[in-house]
Amino acid sequence: MKEKLEQIMRDALSQIDQSQGLDKLNNIRVAFLGKKGELTSILKSMKDVAPEERPKFGQLVNEARKDLEARLEAKKEAFSRALMEEKMKAEVIDVTLPGKKLKTGHRHPNTIALEEVEKIFVGMGYEVVEGPEIEYDYYNFEALNIPANHPAKDEQDTFYINDRLLLRTQTSSVQVRVMEKGKLPIRMIAPGRVFRSDEVDATHSPSFHQIEGLVIDKHITFADLKGTLAEFAKELFGKQTKVKFRPHHFPFTEPSAEMDVTCFKCGGKGCRFCKGEGWIEILGCGMVHPHVLEMSKIDPEEYTGFAFGIGLERIALLKYEIDDMRLLYENDKRFLEQF
Ligand code: DAH
Repeated sequence: MKEKLEQIMRDALSQIDQSQGLDKLNNIRVAFLGKKGELTSILKSMKDVAPEERPKFGQLVNEARKDLEARLEAKKEAFSRALMEEKMKAEVIDVTLPGKKLKTGHRHPNTIALEEVEKIFVGMGYEVVEGPEIEYDYYNFEALNIPANHPAKDEQDTFYINDRLLLRTQTSSVQVRVMEKGKLPIRMIAPGRVFRSDEVDATHSPSFHQIEGLVIDKHITFADLKGTLAEFAKELFGKQTKVKFRPHHFPFTEPSAEMDVTCFKCGGKGCRFCKGEGWIEILGCGMVHPHVLEMSKIDPEEYTGFAFGIGLERIALLKYEIDDMRLLYENDKRFLEQF
């Protein structure tokens, strides 16, 4: 019996030694220590042992059992340790490796220019509002003093959706939407996309962006317009910038003007950038036409106002000295990454 016990122990220990993995180890535990395990069954054959030998034999079996359990436990720990070491090895960070360069996006020059313009006007107390790109003829033309058959309608080659709906050709439509709400005074800018059926070239695109401006209050005069826009130009292009207003015509303003700024490249002397003129046109503006006020239920006897329209692409091209508008729409990363 004792020999049998020793044989079982030799078997068990050699199996434990050779075992690979926790699963195998568990199988060994069951095979020797389980209910039907070899060591368990040896206890059952105790009856074959002489009565005086039984206590001693019982003790031997118990010791063997403890021994086996300790060996199993030690092996289990060794497995866990090896597993952990492997895991840690896999997670080792080599701090000498060169870092991965994170690719961050770049803001589009249009966006940068728009944010600058917005910052300037918000600083003067203007609100930024938006209007729809698909617009009624009424807001885009009629309420801006451009009735049916008006020649100005032809000037802005319009994409029509049907008789009443179109893709807005100018952000001036937002003026009307804000005025007709009847909340006065108004100090707002409205940036947004506009559409005209133009051919694509270095200075034209069927879709571009404008920033509309509108101020309506009591006692607003052309001096307010001049002061505001001159200050805007200085903030955008630098303190030394001078402005000049040339008479112009827009149906929704009277009087109307275009504003030029001194060329920021040559300071007004004339260079390639300003085509030798020293001045660069940047916006259209004027005093809101009394008829336009009336159509939006604002009393022109009590309220006056001025409006302006800035071409966003024009500002971006000027500020970043880009000579072809198409670059702004091609999404060439080599171009965009420069901003
Ligand atoms: N909407 C005009 C255009 O697209 C630009 C413009 C001119 C807007 C004068 C104005 C303005 O608000 O007062 O050509």
